[in-house]
Amino acid sequence: MKIERKEVLKVLENISAPGEGKNMIESGAVTNVMTFADEVVVDITINNPTLQARKKTETEITNIIHSKISEKAKVKVNIKVEAADKPTIKGKTIPGIKNIIAVASGKGGVGKSTVTANLAVTLAKMGFKVGLLDADIYGPSATIMFDVMEEKPLAVNIDGKSKMKPVENYGVKILSIGFFTQPNQAVIWRGPMASKALNQMIFDAAWGELDFLLLDLPPGTGDIHLSIMQSLPITGAVIVSTPQTVALADARKGVAMFQQENINVPVLGIIENMAYFTPEELPNNKYYIFGKEGAKHLAEDIKVPFLGELPLVQSIREAGDVGRPAAMQTATPLEEAFENLTKNVVQEVVSRNKSLPPTEAIKITTMAGCSTVNKK
Ligand SMILES: Nc1ncnc2c1ncn2[C@@H]1O[C@H](COP(=O)(O)OP(=O)(O)O)[C@@H](O)[C@H]1O
Ligand SMILES: [Mg+2]
Repeated sequence: MKIERKEVLKVLENISAPGEGKNMIESGAVTNVMTFADEVVVDITINNPTLQARKKTETEITNIIHSKISEKAKVKVNIKVEAADKPTIKGKTIPGIKNIIAVASGKGGVGKSTVTANLAVTLAKMGFKVGLLDADIYGPSATIMFDVMEEKPLAVNIDGKSKMKPVENYGVKILSIGFFTQPNQAVIWRGPMASKALNQMIFDAAWGELDFLLLDLPPGTGDIHLSIMQSLPITGAVIVSTPQTVALADARKGVAMFQQENINVPVLGIIENMAYFTPEELPNNKYYIFGKEGAKHLAEDIKVPFLGELPLVQSIREAGDVGRPAAMQTATPLEEAFENLTKNVVQEVVSRNKSLPPTEAIKITTMAGCSTVNKK
């Protein structure tokens, strides 16, 4: 008899750990599951359980595996206790990382990854220590944009622990969900799996000292975003939008998500991408094909800083496709545009850090089917 790890994860979704509203997979209480033939090992980490609660959890896990998978399964449950007063991994700040900037967009395809890649190389050129974490589970693209598709993060040993070493190019340390998936394979990452993978890329990675860790978020405003904000102390968010009405409506939702009362991630500002089309040979000709200054007006309307605009030019697209971000080309109008944008972002980070305390990671609990978000 061979029990599959997948089956176990699935049945564990039916039970919750003591004190947690969500099921134990979603809540992160299940820290590891291993299967060997008919043997199942489940590791659980919970805050200060009573002996009774421990026993109950153990029995529930054993029973559900016996009833839903196989009566003959040999189940071993290891319960680790995490003292409530000790910060959990979710609330932890990340040693060595000074600022985490989330780059978000409501809508896909607006140039979020392009902007992130160019911000990253520009920050590196300015002398900052920069990391880029491509967290776009729907369409990771950092490996293409940085021409590191053939590379894989190596394992390094740090203080006796094995850590993932980010791949480096153009002065930017990179980890991407794309390193762990096949290019042609459709991977459906479910919320908890995705946040687990992301957690590993953050906490089990050897980022070293970073002034900025840029986070290329998936488009949209769904569960996965809440998961990410739950696990990371994000300094601030940058929203990318085109001037088009449909993109603006989604950008507005994106801003609202970060500003939500119990999330409170400061929005550093909005970037207008594809502000106008300009042919390389006629740089003074500007065609406002998606409308004019839409993102700028949105920023004014909702009172968040406007960080700048980028034109739609063929060379930005080409640079992304060949894996050498456009901002790498020196002494071009584009380099200047990216520099202005980056300076504005840095300035907003500086003034944000002066006026606000560090962002705390948040705890999200589900009660009676409705999702509530609590500051830890
Ligand atoms: N300012 C721009 N000028 C030209 N092409 C752009 C620009 N911004 C993005 N693109 C192109 O548009 C496509 C989508 O951009 P991408 O950054 O992948 O968007 P997202 O990450 O928001 O889905 C890519 O092919 C990219 O090269
Ligand atoms: Mg993208």
